Amino acid sequence: MENNPIPVIEVKGVRKSYANGAEVCALDDVDLTIGHGQRVAIMGQSGSGKSTLLNLICGLDVPTKGQVLFEGRDLATMSDDDRTRIRRVKMGMIFQTFNLLPTLTGVENVALPLRLNGVALREANEKALAMIEKVGITKRAHHRPDEMSGGERQRIAIARALIFDPPVLLADEPTGNLDSHTGEDILSLLESVHSEFGTTILLVTHNEHAAEHCERRVTLLDGKIVADETDTSRTANVSSV
Ligand SMILES: Nc1ncnc2c1ncn2[C@@H]1O[C@H](COP(=O)(O)OP(=O)(O)O)[C@@H](O)[C@H]1O
Ligand SMILES: [Mg+2]
Repeated sequence: MENNPIPVIEVKGVRKSYANGAEVCALDDVDLTIGHGQRVAIMGQSGSGKSTLLNLICGLDVPTKGQVLFEGRDLATMSDDDRTRIRRVKMGMIFQTFNLLPTLTGVENVALPLRLNGVALREANEKALAMIEKVGITKRAHHRPDEMSGGERQRIAIARALIFDPPVLLADEPTGNLDSHTGEDILSLLESVHSEFGTTILLVTHNEHAAEHCERRVTLLDGKIVADETDTSRTANVSSV
């Protein structure tokens, strides 16, 4: 994973402002380069721009200024189809609001990325059930999201993001609704995914302990990166953790 000379993600001089009434600058002159297989904790208080940054990286939103490159390609210059394809094949996303489809059951939500990638129904459902078991929520598998607690929905969202072994995982506070024991199980699952597939992980978190699962820590404040620290002792172990 360290042999690939092109970074997986490059954020260059990015500004993102929202103009509804008064202008809000959610990100201001952000530069960030992420190599293949890195695990990066994105930290910072509420409103500092963490979710905005993930939305730009996955191409669901466009910067007001600057560029976001995925494997060397500018997301803004791609067609919608290309951006969608990249997300489907390359990026698992766990949104803060989960974004589950309300009319589908847990299994159907988790199987969806496989179905969209052309996997047959039976195989997709079998894999989805196995992933649902890994996140510890088998008894809720056939319920719809509105019959689940916040923590259960969060785990379905995590299973859906991981189901296709994405090379890149963007996780927005993925343990925010979980008790500490379940949160720990999920962090272990992310560790094992990383060591098995060399997954690049961007983990937005408020939790010091969750951040310790990452060798790099980027801190945002008012839309700017104010710290970017790498724990070299952990980097050396990246592929063997
Ligand atoms: N769609 C939007 N319209 C207007 N302002 C927004 C929108 N999304 C985010 N913001 C603002 O941008 C700033 C950063 O938000 P966000 O990225 O959600 O922060 P975080 O995830 O760190 O809590 C906040 O001030 C927020 O209110
Ligand atoms: Mg957020």
